Amino acid sequence: MFDLDQFIADCVVARAETDGITAVREILDRALTEPDRIAHALPATAAEFLPLYTSSDMSIMKFVWGPAMSIPPHDHLMWAVNGIYGGEEDNVFFRRSGAGIVESGGRRVGRGRSAMLGADVIHAVTNPDARACTGSIHVYGGDYLRQPRSMWDAETREERPADGETVRRLFEDARNRADS
Ligand SMILES: [Fe+2]
Repeated sequence: MFDLDQFIADCVVARAETDGITAVREILDRALTEPDRIAHALPATAAEFLPLYTSSDMSIMKFVWGPAMSIPPHDHLMWAVNGIYGGEEDNVFFRRSGAGIVESGGRRVGRGRSAMLGADVIHAVTNPDARACTGSIHVYGGDYLRQPRSMWDAETREERPADGETVRRLFEDARNRADS
C-alpha cells in the first residue's frame, strides 16, 4: 500500500538535498508507478484541497480537481512538482507581458506522470474530464499556504493578490457548485 507518512518522510529527506526539486520528484515518481495505491490512500471523489505537510521550506498538498474544474492563472513563487494519480491535468502556461500576462504554451499531465514547474511559472490548471475527478499530489519548495503571490482573473486577467486561503475558497466554491 501507499504509506503516506513514509512518503512525507522521504520527501523531507529529499528536500534537504542540493537539488531538492529533482530529489523530491524522484520520490513522487516512485510512488506514481502505482497510482491506484495512492488513490486508495487519498481518494479522489470530490473537489478537495488538503494540506498533507507544511513547513517553511516544503508543502505537500492533495489536490482533487472536480469534473471540468479550473484554477485561474496563478504563480507560486517557489518550485513545484505536480504528480497525477487519477485522471488528467491540463496546464496552460503564461508569461508576464507589459502590465498583463500572455499564453505561452500548455501541457497535459496524465495519470502516473509528474511535471516540474520552476519558481517563475505562471499557470492555469483544468481537469479536462467533465465527469470524473483528477487526483494529484503537488509538492512545493516553500510555504505554499503563507507565501503571498498572485492570481489573475480568468476573464479579465487582472492580477490580484492570492495565498493559500484564495485557493481554499476556490475549492469550497467548486464543492458548493457540485452540491447544488
Ligand atoms: Fe499551481
